[in-house]
Amino acid sequence: MTESTFTPRVFSGIKPSGGLTLGNYLGAIKRFVGMQGKVETIYCVVDLHAITVWQDPAQLANMTREVAAGYLAAGLDPTQSILFNQSQVSGHAELGWIFNCVARVGWMNRMTQFKDKAGSNAEKVSLGLYAYPSLMAADILLYHATQVPVGEDQKQHVELTRDIAAKFNHDFKTDFFPITEPVIDGPATRVMNLRDGTKKMSKSGESDMERINMTDDATTIAKKFKKAKTDPAPLPETVEGLATRPEARNLVEIYAALEDTTPEAVIAQYPGAGWGTFKPALADLAVAKLAPISDEMARLMNDPAEIDRILGKGSEKARAIAEPILKKTYEIVGLLRS
Ligand code: AMP
Ligand code: TRP
Repeated sequence: MTESTFTPRVFSGIKPSGGLTLGNYLGAIKRFVGMQGKVETIYCVVDLHAITVWQDPAQLANMTREVAAGYLAAGLDPTQSILFNQSQVSGHAELGWIFNCVARVGWMNRMTQFKDKAGSNAEKVSLGLYAYPSLMAADILLYHATQVPVGEDQKQHVELTRDIAAKFNHDFKTDFFPITEPVIDGPATRVMNLRDGTKKMSKSGESDMERINMTDDATTIAKKFKKAKTDPAPLPETVEGLATRPEARNLVEIYAALEDTTPEAVIAQYPGAGWGTFKPALADLAVAKLAPISDEMARLMNDPAEIDRILGKGSEKARAIAEPILKKTYEIVGLLRS
């Protein structure tokens, strides 16, 4: 089997560890929806990844539903894509264990996300947080996924997935696992914090003003963009002028991604514009694009049983693909099944 004999299949996931942000929407969900219908697409709410840091059990199921609602509200169609939550398909954890025995400690030690998250507290974080990239490799390879759309911050983890697949194939003298391609494209693969253009917009930043949440209302969205940090200079005449201006570049990239265009086209539309012009235009555009999604999320969240039903059905479909791949993996490794 060569790389090209694997059927094209897309897999990606989002953690239910807090509300969805504009970074999740532009860097992930919107791009996931764009791939739907073109190839087989499998999208997951990765609840087993969320619990690598403490999650309140009373909240976790609801946060899982909220991420599912975000996917659906943004246009994911459960008849065209498989949508499910990770813990309902036990193969993720099972293959994750096998990959813990393939991945090397030295590889894990190079993971920048772990170093950032653990910080000076590395002795006290969970073992799961350390092993997280190997579970992510299992998520992807359990479906023999060939493409993984992610934001820039996940690039290193997809590269590790490739290393794990290659080492497994080499150690067991097989070509069973594909060497997956990361798909990191478009203008918003790294949406930055609105108060500090050198930091990524994340679910867990200290101040709510630094991120746009997918559930923010119109007034809040407008306020956050108007208060977004910038330098005093107006927009440049060409995109090259954004290179050393992280905050300005971020706002232009957000505009481009929301409008499905390029930063070049945005600059051509607003050459030399002041913030008094550009920020309100960006706020209006964001409200126009995000308000229908947040309204739909709220509507979906009023019917949790329907979300659970969709996730249950998606899990069945996911299991049907995963089971033969896991069975074959056990066989290759030599694990007895009687
Ligand atoms: P997470 O919320 O960490 O589970 O991330 C889920 C997906 O959203 C991953 O593909 C991330 O790369 C993407 N993502 C998260 N934050 C951002 C951001 N600020 N900019 C672009 N993509 C992001
Ligand atoms: N680690 C990813 C993140 O933090 C989420 C994730 C888990 C994922 N498993 C995945 C993304 C598989 C793509 C494919 O954003």
